[in-house]
Amino acid sequence: MQMTVTVKPTGRMIGAEVRCGDVRSLSDDASRAVYPALLDHLVILIRGQSLTDPELIAFGRRFGELDFAPLARTGKEKARPHPEIIVVSNVLENGVPIGVLRDAEVVWHSDNSYRETPLSYSGLYALEIPPSGGETGYVNMYHALETLPRELRARIEGRTLKHDLTYNSAGDLRAGFQPVTDVRAAPGPSHPIVRTHPETGYDALYLGRRPNAYINGLPVDESEQLLNALWAHATRPEFQWHHTWRAGDILIWDNRCAMHHRNPFDGGHRRIMHRIQCAGDRPVHQPSGKAGPHPRAATLVEAAR
Ligand code: SIN
Repeated sequence: MQMTVTVKPTGRMIGAEVRCGDVRSLSDDASRAVYPALLDHLVILIRGQSLTDPELIAFGRRFGELDFAPLARTGKEKARPHPEIIVVSNVLENGVPIGVLRDAEVVWHSDNSYRETPLSYSGLYALEIPPSGGETGYVNMYHALETLPRELRARIEGRTLKHDLTYNSAGDLRAGFQPVTDVRAAPGPSHPIVRTHPETGYDALYLGRRPNAYINGLPVDESEQLLNALWAHATRPEFQWHHTWRAGDILIWDNRCAMHHRNPFDGGHRRIMHRIQCAGDRPVHQPSGKAGPHPRAATLVEAAR
């Protein structure tokens, strides 16, 4: 029987629930209907799944070539049986973490912006969920750029941002790195602050992560002040959508135009998520690209007026 795919927007600036039945039996036609929902809404939620790791990997491949993410390692987590899957968890087995990011707050970020070619999509599949906390929040970076005050927009024109790779998003020092004492010397690539999405052709604000970021060419205090203003704007509470997880949920998001955050949770409860991620392109800004906001960002800006 052919499953009809339905898309129900969250009503916020970002995100939609996609109803498509069991993703293990998704037809190629149905899959082709899911993909535009991701490009339009930046984050899609698919509920009620029951997947083994190989099935999650097979589903992830529908969104692109999977990335093995060696830099996800903090040196503390157990060896991964499937290199395509990163375990995100606070659970210890015999005193050894089975995954990364503990029960900590995970700061706003776009996945792997500290690489020359950051990820396109990430997907998180919930196996065990605590009774409260651990919600994952998202913001729409097309919208953040579109609504940026003119004065701030002028100050980032043509600028690049250095993305530090020393710490992960839970603030843990990655294995083999030294603490950062000067943001200008922190290891990591530089990317344009305004990034053109390679598939939609629209521009988005591309901030990566706040800690140890640096806007190239500015005095450090000016870079800090400008970054604080950009981050305060991009993460305004009214721009956010937070998902409260149930076991069996999958969220897929587009790192090229969305950022995410995780609330902390009580470490006395178990949270186990399996994450997949797709390889992406080197971020670029194409001044000759499509003018104007992403159609969805435009609709939202219009609605908010
Ligand atoms: C992540 O940043 O990939 C983890 C998000 C979460 O644990 O909800």
